[in-house]
Amino acid sequence: MQAVSVQESESAAERREALKEVFAQARGCVRCPELAATRKTVVFGAGNADADLMFVGEAPGASEDEQGVPFVGAAGKLLEKLLVEIGMARSEVFICNVLKCRPPGNRDPQPVEIDNCQEYLHRQVELIQPNVICTLGNFSTKLLRGDPTGITRLHGQPEVLTLGRRAVRLYPIFHPAAALYTPRMLETLREDFTRLPELLALGAPEQPDSAEMPEVLPEAASEVAQVAAEEQGSEIDQLGLF
Ligand code: URA
Repeated sequence: MQAVSVQESESAAERREALKEVFAQARGCVRCPELAATRKTVVFGAGNADADLMFVGEAPGASEDEQGVPFVGAAGKLLEKLLVEIGMARSEVFICNVLKCRPPGNRDPQPVEIDNCQEYLHRQVELIQPNVICTLGNFSTKLLRGDPTGITRLHGQPEVLTLGRRAVRLYPIFHPAAALYTPRMLETLREDFTRLPELLALGAPEQPDSAEMPEVLPEAASEVAQVAAEEQGSEIDQLGLF
């Protein structure tokens, strides 16, 4: 992937344009041959490209793969409901997943797929510059914390984490799909959700000194197909995903 360096001073409009470029690259991605061969769409993410709050789920399911939008099924409806309950709208936040392609049969993401795809997530964090990242379930929590500790132990406990050049408040919560049919888990998820407004009110955590920070993204020896930009670039505006 062509890594475009991002200054804190870049405007939201400039960062949004850069995000669209990353989307165009992701749409032609063939890093995971099985996923590239079986997906209908690349589900990059949707919402406010300058959001303070970002949600990271696991991977698109069948409905998401059809529509190209994350969290449009039952779990997404629950996520939206919980947002409304804390006075927020889906359009205010940015929602994406660890994997941008649907694993066939909704199987778990494989480690190599997570590894292949993580650059897109890191670019999204770098460009959207959220203050709070809410990880939904185990996959995104483990990936962004770089640690195998599970969601049952970590949910509801915010921590400041540096991802690339950006310090964020990471807030792990249960995945809404897990809470759909388990009332006690739903209760816990709802309780954890109620703490989101106070976390957001804290604003951005203190940012690291940029001079001391490593390059955010490896200059990837990329096998990402650039054809996406040519073939589908004109559709990106029409999609209006962010
Ligand atoms: N579950 C996820 O993790 N992501 C989606 O987009 C939908 C369901």
